[in-house]
Amino acid sequence: MTNEKIKDAVKARYSQIAERREQSCCASCGCGISPITKTEAIGYSREDLECIPEEAAMGLGCGNPTAIAELKLEETVLDLGSGAGIDVFLAATKVGPKGRVIGVDMTKEMIDKASAIAKSNGYTNVEFRLGEIEKLPVDDRSIDVVISNCVINLAPDKAKVFREAYRVLRTGGKFSVSDIVTERALSNEIRNDLNAWAGCIAGALEQQQYLRMIKEAGFVDLHVLSNREFYVEDSNNKEMVKLSSITVRACKRE
Ligand SMILES: C[S@@+](CC[C@H](N)C(=O)[O-])C[C@H]1O[C@@H](n2cnc3c(N)ncnc32)[C@H](O)[C@@H]1O
Repeated sequence: MTNEKIKDAVKARYSQIAERREQSCCASCGCGISPITKTEAIGYSREDLECIPEEAAMGLGCGNPTAIAELKLEETVLDLGSGAGIDVFLAATKVGPKGRVIGVDMTKEMIDKASAIAKSNGYTNVEFRLGEIEKLPVDDRSIDVVISNCVINLAPDKAKVFREAYRVLRTGGKFSVSDIVTERALSNEIRNDLNAWAGCIAGALEQQQYLRMIKEAGFVDLHVLSNREFYVEDSNNKEMVKLSSITVRACKRE
């Protein structure tokens, strides 16, 4: 299975979700539940949801990276895989009108949707850029905080994503993400299942490997701040697979 094939499948799934032709069923939150209920279940407070446009909360995340990012007024924030923009809009309220938030996503329909929400709600400090998180359309050392929510598991080359996050951060910059990891290696059947890739399962790394890659990119002060376990059915082997949704914070010190 090539990286391009995986990316095409992921893009196809999220373009359909953006246009509401398919329901969101990302691994950690399940199907058949309203987007707002899902969003509250993964760590957003009522107050968080009240200060962002409702259409941005599509229930696609697996945590709330803005809750651990300690965002300050006037900071510049970058969201990797911004989707419809939930964390971009939340961060925008925290950094204020003199701050700036950039969302990057490889799915054009998501960028179009988030940009339309920003426009119709009068946001002046947010921007959405079409691009891949493995090759960020962002200058070196231009960002104070990188956030991401349930996206890095979808990237076939995660080491590249962590190196790119490190490149764009200023010295002292923070990296605060929510993502899906596993306790042990997934079966080859799952790894080769494109639906499981798009559903945030097949691309999940073992937690230790995930954390090691973040350190290898150069980050220090690495902490896992929360860990929520859940199970999904491996339909190939008719058994349950244990996954975890974790939030991680690290820092660029150099
Ligand atoms: C599970 S959704 C999460 C969206 C958003 N972070 C949220 O919490 O609502 C994953 C998003 O990441 C984007 N994505 C996946 N892989 C990507 C990559 N390699 N580069 C850029 N965007 C990517 C998808 O297009 C999709 O919008």
